Amino acid sequence: MSEIHVVSKDNRRLYKNYFDPYFRLRHDIYVKQRKWMALDRPDGREIDQFDTDEAVYLFCIDDGRLIGAMRAVPTMMPNLMSEIFPYLNIREPIQRPDVYELSRIFVIPERRGEHAGPRIDMLLLTAIMEYGVSVGLSGFSIVLESWWLPRFERCGWKAHPLGLPQMMDGMSVLAVLVDCDETTWTSLCGQIGLRKPTLTWRGLAGVNRRALPDLSPPAPLSVQPAQSVLHDAGDYAT
Ligand code: COA
Repeated sequence: MSEIHVVSKDNRRLYKNYFDPYFRLRHDIYVKQRKWMALDRPDGREIDQFDTDEAVYLFCIDDGRLIGAMRAVPTMMPNLMSEIFPYLNIREPIQRPDVYELSRIFVIPERRGEHAGPRIDMLLLTAIMEYGVSVGLSGFSIVLESWWLPRFERCGWKAHPLGLPQMMDGMSVLAVLVDCDETTWTSLCGQIGLRKPTLTWRGLAGVNRRALPDLSPPAPLSVQPAQSVLHDAGDYAT
């Protein structure tokens, strides 16, 4: 059973055994597999200047193993868009308490593209929306490759471009601001069959947040009287 855990400076001690595998996985995935060589470090961990105490992580843990993750950095702190890619945002710089920047979303290779149960990447996209709604965020800024856009469109993430895509190391990259709202969260839950919030907030009782409600089951289909089912073929003509 995959669980999504919120990990921040307030409960990091409870997850200390996960951080080394987490940074190693990031190195394997981004440096070795994706060949983002600017992130290479001789110690085999991918850690950058935005992995600070203020970063919040979602860890997807299955049977004690980290199988996926995502990082959220408050835009009041230095972040990828403000420090590394400011030219991708041709609008006002985003520096708002109600907007976090998302980055480093990954699923380990053997758990990608799953068909049994909710896909882990969809679970992460749903979970981060739950996180945002719970703590009162209105949006997520992201620097991403443009192949994400149709995926966002399909699952109902509303992404607003902040500038034009630019080619970087053979990738088309752009900056977006994604709406964070309860309607999107509810719709995502419906798509993956979740009836209630999914996040585990272990050790975070002190965090100021709104507990999201369980979701009502879909309305039952209305039962038609028996005679209305027995149509002649001609009944369907319009
Ligand atoms: N370039 C273009 N398309 C990509 C892609 C890439 N680097 N990575 C994934 N996709 C597309 C796949 O082509 C696939 O499309 P299809 O379903 O039409 O064939 C789709 O996304 C599904 O990808 P897949 O990897 O099979 O499974 P997933 O949806 O479970 O996981 C990710 C998606 C992004 C979480 C996973 O591919 C991953 O962890 N990648 C490495 C980390 C990464 O690059 N993260 C994004 C930048 S932070």
